[in-house]
Amino acid sequence: MSPDPNAPRFRVRPPANWVNDPNGPFRWRGRYHLFYQHNPNAPVHADVHWGHASSPDLARWEHHPVALTPTPGGPDEAGCWSGCTVDDDGVPTVVYTGIDRHHTGLGAICLARAADPGDPALTEWRPRPVPVVSGPPAGLDVVMFRDPFVFRHAGRRWALVGAGHADGTPSVLLYDCADLSDWRFAGVLLDGNDPVAVDAFGDKAVGWECPQLFRTPGGTWVLVVSLWDGDPGATGYLTGRLTHAGERELSFLPRTGGTLDHGRDFYAPAVLQEPERTLMWGWSWESREPGEAERAGWAGVLTAPRVVDVQADGSLRVVPAPELDLLRAPDPFVTAPGVGTRLPDAYDLTVTARAVTTVRLGDGLSLRLDPAGGGLTVRNAARSAPVEVRVPSGAELRVRVLVDGSLYEVFAGDRAALTERAYRRPGVAPGLSVTGAGAAVTAWELVPPALN
Ligand code: FRU
Repeated sequence: MSPDPNAPRFRVRPPANWVNDPNGPFRWRGRYHLFYQHNPNAPVHADVHWGHASSPDLARWEHHPVALTPTPGGPDEAGCWSGCTVDDDGVPTVVYTGIDRHHTGLGAICLARAADPGDPALTEWRPRPVPVVSGPPAGLDVVMFRDPFVFRHAGRRWALVGAGHADGTPSVLLYDCADLSDWRFAGVLLDGNDPVAVDAFGDKAVGWECPQLFRTPGGTWVLVVSLWDGDPGATGYLTGRLTHAGERELSFLPRTGGTLDHGRDFYAPAVLQEPERTLMWGWSWESREPGEAERAGWAGVLTAPRVVDVQADGSLRVVPAPELDLLRAPDPFVTAPGVGTRLPDAYDLTVTARAVTTVRLGDGLSLRLDPAGGGLTVRNAARSAPVEVRVPSGAELRVRVLVDGSLYEVFAGDRAALTERAYRRPGVAPGLSVTGAGAAVTAWELVPPALN
């Protein structure tokens, strides 16, 4: 059987079946570990485990055995849902959401420790039988509670948990977890009534899932949330300050915010704070009919790693991780605008527009770049409405597109990212067309990097 041209080959996804959120990106002894929500038995969201892959360089990924499996009779019997990974005094420790047999939106916070921190593959994980937090704090009418995210501020360890309240308000709850086995509720860090949040996200979400928080090299704090409105929806960010309101209190003061990814197929991103930068991966779901995923035997993929930071005006800066250049073939397959070049299944394309420029990527996506008007319009043949992204106007607009099978990740300058899925019909060889006065184009096929 010929390989499935819609199946991504360079991004992280399990060998078969289901993946949703990226979980607990973690660097250990020089190697990147990335976990993900995974059903190993079917391409549907059920019986969720933690899958596991690792990489020396963010370009080559190796699969590992499943890291977390629901324990019959345990607090995660119905699923090991999202969470993070921390270095707890030299022991890699996964902090995750346990879903018990009652299977409500209320999770418990569970720990699993690496059985052998000396094992570079971190193959085996030992779950603690009893959660560190068995459910939401009393008195706040919390009806959704999940996705712990542990971070450090001023040398002390804290955690966020995503929440939704009975009156429809989403929030992020704060915990003091200086001792990882003894958590103390420390208040609501932020909720959906905050005026900056309302301005940035609207008021549709009834829960904020997968909260993530990181500090940029310039000292700004960025809060990322996934906006759940009864179903997974969009993703948003807020940038601002994080301050102590007493030794055991923290508050987040947002300055501005917006949409994290402007496409329709991106959700539940997870970040890895490194000393000099922050990396982010998201989940891209299938936008085709569920029956097609069942027939294909796989569903979902994680995006390429992105470097996230803030611009001087407080808005987001987002670019592909530079390590992705390792996947480029030695020579580009196109170096000039024109019509008709055959597109490979996976490629990395940059177009610099100096006037209104149209880029057609087969019969899947087409892009209209308007440098003077400060806009990028993306049309996906499978969807009726185009996506419009505003960027500062200027003499040039540079757009980079990473394509891997049916996964399209579009970056407008260093300002905006947009993730969409577009599927290839069998037997159609997609062609590239770029038309626009003075446009520059370069594209490389993606190839497995040479081992060094
Ligand atoms: C986000 C999410 C998380 C949850 C996980 C379950 O997509 O709903 O809130 O922990 O997926 O797989």
